Amino acid sequence: MDCLNNVSTLRENIMNAAQLPVAEHKVRCIAITGGKGGVGKTNISINLATSLSKLNKRVMLLDADFGLANVDVVLGLNPEKNLLHVLENQCSLKDILVDGPDNIKIVPASSGVKRMANLNSLEQSGLISAFSELGDDLDIMLIDTAAGISDSVVHFARAAGEVIVVVCDEPASIADAYALIKVLSKDYSVHKVNIISNQVESKAHGEMLFNQILKVINKYLDVSVNYLGSIPEDSYLKKAVKRQLAVTTAYPRSRSAQAFKDIAKKINSKKSEENSSGNLEFFAEQLVQLN
Ligand SMILES: Nc1ncnc2c1ncn2[C@@H]1O[C@H](COP(=O)(O)OP(=O)(O)OP(=O)(O)O)[C@@H](O)[C@H]1O
Ligand SMILES: [Mg+2]
Repeated sequence: MDCLNNVSTLRENIMNAAQLPVAEHKVRCIAITGGKGGVGKTNISINLATSLSKLNKRVMLLDADFGLANVDVVLGLNPEKNLLHVLENQCSLKDILVDGPDNIKIVPASSGVKRMANLNSLEQSGLISAFSELGDDLDIMLIDTAAGISDSVVHFARAAGEVIVVVCDEPASIADAYALIKVLSKDYSVHKVNIISNQVESKAHGEMLFNQILKVINKYLDVSVNYLGSIPEDSYLKKAVKRQLAVTTAYPRSRSAQAFKDIAKKINSKKSEENSSGNLEFFAEQLVQLN
């Protein structure tokens, strides 16, 4: 009898699970940003995406960088359509997804990003449901943001729920990263950021950069800061860029590819309850509050 009860409870559980709305599936949304241009945001986004995918995560990379060397240029992709076409109701979000290396999916968004600041309410709800439809097929969405601290950059970072700030060893990089974190904390209630040091000579060099920014943040801001690690300056990464490939694909044994692997493991090991982000629908809802 007990056995029969167990079977029916199991069946009920399965039925309930099947009825869960799409939005119940948690998708971590992580924005890669940095304030200063050229610090390595796009390359870090691509290579963390491939490294997380190698850890069996289903990863999507949203290209929110409307600069010159955005994700599709760096990877030599030629997307026919982008987020602008979705916003203009010409196709669905699934139609514009491009296959990237290591099974990652890429949303070419660049030319839709500026348009996002001027959506009417119908377009806003269209974008929200477009994103929430993808939720079941994904575990992590990374967002490559543009340089600077324009409204769109800050809104993407705020909407993501998790933020990675990239710094390198230049006074302007530390100053711009601090300015970005200040705006995020004071105007957008973001009180937790992660840091990656890029183009470093050694692990100690990366930690030194982290400590520099930590010192000013602790002095002036109410933000908790988590260090994810560093990526070395690596000629193999530059070679991979020239070949329009991810370094993790082209040179998986290079020092930078190993560092991406270590940081991806760290990101992956974070317990789900620590994740502040909810789901893709939440992300899109936050995003369209640009207006
Ligand atoms: N770890 C590294 N080792 C060697 N070169 C690097 C490294 N990281 C970045 N670079 C170099 O810096 C260039 C700029 O990197 P990337 O395009 O990723 O920066 P970005 O922050 O996205 O720039 P933008 O602000 O223009 O979007 C790369 O093309 C590469 O040549
Ligand atoms: Mg970039």
